[in-house]
Amino acid sequence: MDIYVDTANLDEIRQAADLGILDGVTTNPSLVAKEGAEFHPHLAKICEIVSGPVSAEVTATDAAGMASQGEELSRIASNIVIKCPCTVAGLKACKALADKEIRTNMTLCFQPSQAWLVAKAGAFLVSPFLGRIDDISGDGVELIHQIRQIYDNYGYETKILAASLRHPKHVVDVALAGADVATIPFGVIKQLMNHPLTDIGLSKFLADWERLQASQ
Ligand code: G3P
Repeated sequence: MDIYVDTANLDEIRQAADLGILDGVTTNPSLVAKEGAEFHPHLAKICEIVSGPVSAEVTATDAAGMASQGEELSRIASNIVIKCPCTVAGLKACKALADKEIRTNMTLCFQPSQAWLVAKAGAFLVSPFLGRIDDISGDGVELIHQIRQIYDNYGYETKILAASLRHPKHVVDVALAGADVATIPFGVIKQLMNHPLTDIGLSKFLADWERLQASQ
């Protein structure tokens, strides 16, 4: 499973890239707004740090507007992927962009039928938002299972990007469900390598080692 960092913060992106296991970045208008930076130059900086796919979201709500914003954003760098919402207009924009060989990430996906249609339209990625489904007492992981089955039944090549992941268990659950990519907040990426028994075990090994050195 590929791993993307879900942030627009340059410091976090650098630290995640420094781990040596980062495959890409996802941003959205809320994450970019948090940085208070100018959109296009900020995306260019992200693309200098990470060579894998970097998702940049359109803000137009009509198909033609999304497609034209998408074309403009795609000129920033060759690794930009255009994020469009899973709406009827987004579906049309996805098809128009795919016809021009511009890669899309179809976002705000909450049901399998949305994932099916955007795959037919040639989406590169689809982003089911797990955490937000769980927030309203749904089953976010089940959505990943359903999309996986539909894509496998018919051989669709669109990649399932599990998004809105809030904790390490979400990440493990989507890996088990067969997601192709997990986009994860930087804080959660760090949590993935932590376990109290690792720390306790390491302290004990080092203490025993020091005792041995002192006795020789
Ligand atoms: O990748 C989508 C993500 O940014 C949304 O996460 O936690 O706001 O639902 P969240």
